[in-house]
Amino acid sequence: MIRVAIDGPSGAGKSTVAKRIAKDFSIIYVDTGAMYRCIGLYALRQQIDTKNTDLITALLTDINLKTAYNEQTGQRIFLNNEDVSDAIRTPEASMAASDVSAIPAVRAFLLDLQQNMAKQQSLIMDGRDIGTVVIPDAELKIFLTASPESRAKRRHLEYLQKGMNNSYEEILKDVIQRDRQDSTRASAPLRQAEDAVLLDTTTIGFEETVSIIKDMIQKKAAQLSTSI
Ligand code: DC
Repeated sequence: MIRVAIDGPSGAGKSTVAKRIAKDFSIIYVDTGAMYRCIGLYALRQQIDTKNTDLITALLTDINLKTAYNEQTGQRIFLNNEDVSDAIRTPEASMAASDVSAIPAVRAFLLDLQQNMAKQQSLIMDGRDIGTVVIPDAELKIFLTASPESRAKRRHLEYLQKGMNNSYEEILKDVIQRDRQDSTRASAPLRQAEDAVLLDTTTIGFEETVSIIKDMIQKKAAQLSTSI
């Protein structure tokens, strides 16, 4: 069994890379950011201030999250039985996710779900605190990063492909603000675990990043004499 924890700031390419590697190795992929996004989206829809600890904490009892995977649709996430996989990808939902993720009760609620998924199976989980808090004994930990400008450029392209026309400047501002918010919060801030391998993708492309990480996973499995 190999559990791979990938952490890093937003837009470093964690989820696209993790998704592809999980597919190639036929193991589970867990996108923990999507879970925070669901809570952020729910709060937005209820018109509740996403920074209000008491109101957001009270909201958690109304929230049921499920993930499902099938070949055609890929991984989908359901908020109270509604497929919100696309609705959680807007800039508003991103910022709301970052806001609610600073609330300790939200983190405790999701930690439980995430740790249950990480029991007894090979998987790749990505987020901000996977190697430090969720799976501190993960067999392999990677901290994936890139310059804010290159992360904003990738997000910008992603949005354009979806027909969203947020400007590069606006996205860069968001990236920098979310970095600050995610790494300075008191509860499980974004930081590299001491035993994580640092991988900066500013100048490496997608295929190369995938191949470097796959190599690390294979070497780790061989070293531990375990299967992937
Ligand atoms: O990875 P993402 O951009 O989808 O994450 C959305 C927000 O959720 C991000 O700003 C910080 C938060 N998050 C977190 O605090 N801990 C995680 N393990 C994953 C995401």
